[in-house]
Amino acid sequence: MSDIVIVSGSPSESSRSERILQYLGSFLEKEHLTVTHISVKDVPAEDLLFGNFDSPEVKQIANQIEDAKGVIVGTPVYKASYSGVLKALFDILPPDILKDTPVLPLMTGGSLSHLLALEYALKPLLATLKGQNLKGLYFLDSQIDKT
Ligand SMILES: Cc1cc2nc3c(=O)[nH]c(=O)nc-3n(C[C@H](O)[C@H](O)[C@H](O)COP(=O)(O)O)c2cc1C
Repeated sequence: MSDIVIVSGSPSESSRSERILQYLGSFLEKEHLTVTHISVKDVPAEDLLFGNFDSPEVKQIANQIEDAKGVIVGTPVYKASYSGVLKALFDILPPDILKDTPVLPLMTGGSLSHLLALEYALKPLLATLKGQNLKGLYFLDSQIDKT
């Protein structure tokens, strides 16, 4: 069991949002919190595509999230919303997976145009899963040094 579970919703191999999530994870570890990183890339593509509720990987992810004291969910903005693959993962997790859990929503985007995707897309998704949304973070690509 970890204090904090960090979920990355980017399918990209060299992901900017995941770079920030890694940074946040190391920051929290310096504060003596235990951290587990989960990525949509850890889940077999077939389980996501065919909505496999019995996937062992998805069950393990569900257990890790349920046991966490806090969760960070990060995703790139794709077409003015969260990534489709992040939604595909949450679709096969239990409906109250974030019950009583503080959740920090985080998005990265190519422009400021979709800053409000945090408010109208990601936060409602996390609230539906019964998470307690914190204020949230939005980063522009131009602010991110991948190295
Ligand atoms: C398929 C796709 C759709 C995107 N749509 C948007 C968009 O609607 N608004 C925006 O500001 N950026 C958009 N972007 C840019 C990404 O949000 C941005 O580069 C992000 O930091 C990528 O994160 P990642 O490297 O973690 O995947 C899009 C990028 C891709 C690949």
